[in-house]
Amino acid sequence: MKQIQVLSDKAALITQALSCVLEKINIALEERGLCTLALAGGSTPKPLYEALAQQSLPWEKIHIFWGDERYVPANHPDSNEGMARQAWLDVVPFPPDNIHPMPTGSGDPALDAQTHETQLQQFFQVAPGEVPVFDIILLGMGDDGHTASLFPQTEALKVSDRLITVGNKDGQPRLTFTFPLLNQARCVIFLVAGENKRPALAQIFAPEADETMYPSRAVQPQGELWWLLDQAAGAELK
Ligand code: 6PG
Repeated sequence: MKQIQVLSDKAALITQALSCVLEKINIALEERGLCTLALAGGSTPKPLYEALAQQSLPWEKIHIFWGDERYVPANHPDSNEGMARQAWLDVVPFPPDNIHPMPTGSGDPALDAQTHETQLQQFFQVAPGEVPVFDIILLGMGDDGHTASLFPQTEALKVSDRLITVGNKDGQPRLTFTFPLLNQARCVIFLVAGENKRPALAQIFAPEADETMYPSRAVQPQGELWWLLDQAAGAELK
């Protein structure tokens, strides 16, 4: 199931995203008594996290992960973990064990990627080679059509036998979910705002385009796929 919604402005986008996320959290809690939610980094989702911090939810039943992470400590200004903690996770009573950050401290991104893969396998109780099913994965999209840390024409796009791999942004290492993990999700929600995203969106929604140039095209989850756009980003889409 694929839904594309163009909202009037960024605030309306965030309101719709909040409604969508709360609905999916409640479905997960009803069906499984637990919700696994992977967060997007970047700037777009921050107001959504701030809005989630105002909710009254059973935080002890919600487990937080990240779809990608810059290779910096959590207290670094670029850290996706740091942004989400400041906006939401550290201002509501999540049990600390419910927060599952990507490790970025060993000095070896590939080792940290493997460590996190093992952490996911243990949490989801899956065997090596089996792909965990996240309830909700939030994603953003860069001007270049990347998502998570799956950048155009990088090796990470080809990884099909791992859950976590090392992404590469202009030579900077990042940890990222792989396409197999993204595409196993019950629900993927893209949040995209701003006119600068229009050219990439046109390619992503075109009948044909090169997925290695526009990696977000390859996010085709077995569950639901939601694209929530503001007017500035989505105006030209048919
Ligand atoms: C990251 C994100 C990245 C982000 C896009 C969009 O670590 O930066 O995971 O994929 O979602 O670059 O970023 P903005 O929301 O800031 O436009």
